[in-house]
Amino acid sequence: MQIVRLTPDEGPRLRAIRLAALEDAPDAFGSTYSETAARPPESWPAQLRSLATFVAVVDGADGGMVRGGPAPDDPGDALLLSMWVAPTARGRGVGRALVGAVVAWARAEGFARLLLDVADQNAPAVALYARLGFVPTGEVDHLPPPRQHIREHRRALRL
Ligand SMILES: CC(C)(COP(=O)(O)OP(=O)(O)OC[C@H]1O[C@@H](n2cnc3c(N)ncnc32)[C@H](O)[C@@H]1OP(=O)(O)O)[C@@H](O)C(=O)NCCC(=O)NCCS
Repeated sequence: MQIVRLTPDEGPRLRAIRLAALEDAPDAFGSTYSETAARPPESWPAQLRSLATFVAVVDGADGGMVRGGPAPDDPGDALLLSMWVAPTARGRGVGRALVGAVVAWARAEGFARLLLDVADQNAPAVALYARLGFVPTGEVDHLPPPRQHIREHRRALRL
């Protein structure tokens, strides 16, 4: 398994894996498959320029992804976003490696904390983040419609 950072010319590659994630795990993300599939082609390089995007290559194919970017409210905080590992690649340390890539990126960028939001009901993801030292901040929210019934909570890792 290898973790690679995508470059801005890899919009189609990002689109393919992001849509695979949204199709596989719709309740894990705020964006929906249909709204994401409808995004214009130029939006994908733009996302790659604004977010550090890492893909896990597993057995020769893209088998997971994660992104990191600045948090909007505090210049010392970064956000971990879009974490997904393909079902066939789970349980082999791929998620752990992807989080590690974002932690290394956030440290190198000089952020003090790495934040993420996870659905309360998402036991594998909650276990992954707890295992890697992310602790609940006490902040809770809900996913946007159509999944506003799903509550998520924020976790933070001090870098
Ligand atoms: C959550 C997810 C990313 C985990 O990826 P993964 O590659 O299977 O995780 P890893 O193999 O790296 O596991 C690392 C640690 O996480 C925990 N963990 C991961 N999956 C788990 C599960 N199903 N049950 C319990 N603990 C789990 C374990 O502590 C594990 O460490 P250990 O094996 O040493 O005990 C993956 O299940 C996934 O993509 N789910 C769907 C999308 C999603 O929920 N994304 C998160 C949005 S916030």
